[in-house]
Amino acid sequence: MQENIWEKEYKKPKLVTGHDKPQAFFVKFIKYLRKEKNIKSKGLNVLDLGSGTGRNTIYLAQNGAQVVGMEISDTAITLAQKRTRHLELDIKYLKQSIGSTYPFGDNEFDLIIDVTSSNSLDEKEREVYLDEVHRVLKKDGIFFVRALCKDGDKNAKFLLKNNPGEEKDTYIMPGTELQERVFSEEDFRETYSKYFNILKLEKTESYSKVGGRVYKRRFWLAVMGK
Ligand SMILES: C[S@@+](CC[C@H](N)C(=O)[O-])C[C@H]1O[C@@H](n2cnc3c(N)ncnc32)[C@H](O)[C@@H]1O
Repeated sequence: MQENIWEKEYKKPKLVTGHDKPQAFFVKFIKYLRKEKNIKSKGLNVLDLGSGTGRNTIYLAQNGAQVVGMEISDTAITLAQKRTRHLELDIKYLKQSIGSTYPFGDNEFDLIIDVTSSNSLDEKEREVYLDEVHRVLKKDGIFFVRALCKDGDKNAKFLLKNNPGEEKDTYIMPGTELQERVFSEEDFRETYSKYFNILKLEKTESYSKVGGRVYKRRFWLAVMGK
C-alpha cells in the first residue's frame, strides 16, 4: 500500500524533489559530528532510512562512509543508483520497509539517519522502526532524525482539522494518498526517549512545495544516542 503510494509519488512527484545535494541542515549536522563529537565520516558504517534518490547517502559515501540506503520505492533506488553509476562509492541500496524487521545484526551501525522518512509510518510500523534502529545502532552510535513538527505549524493545524488521517496527529497530504504524522515537542520527546537519549533537539523552518503550492513548514532536528 505505502509502496504503491511512494512509487506513484516518484513517477509523478508532488512532494519529493530530485535534488542531488544534501540540504544545509544535514551538512551542518555532519560538521557538528566532526567538531563537537569528534566523529569523522570516513570509515563510518551508516544506515540511511528512506534514502530516496540518494542525496544524503551519496554525500556520506563521498566523504568516506560505507552506506546502506533502505528505501521502499524501486523508482527512487534506480534514480539513486544512476547518479553514482560511474563513481566508486561504498553504497548498497536495499529495497525494504523501514517499518519491518531489518536484515542486520545487533550494533552494526555507527550512524543511522532518518531524514523526513518515517513520517508516513503507522503506529505499529513506528514501533518496529524504533525497536530496530535501537537494535542495529552501536552502543556509542548516533541517530539523526528530521521529523515534521506540529507546534506552531499553521499548515499542519489546517490539515489535521480538514484532512485528518486515522491515527493520532496524522493527516492526508492533499493531492496524494500519503498519511503524515506530526509531533509536538512533548510527543517527540516521549516517543523517542523511550529508546534513545536525546542529545539535541532543535525546531527549524523551511519551505516545502506540494503539488505546485509552497508551504512554510516546521521540522524537528534531533541528534540522539543509545
Ligand atoms: C520525503 S522523502 C526523503 C528522502 C531522503 N531521506 C531525502 O532526504 O532526500 C521520504 C522517503 O522515504 C521513503 N519511505 C517512505 N516510507 C518508507 C518505508 N516504510 N520504508 C522505506 N522507505 C520509505 C520514500 O519512498 C521517500 O523516498
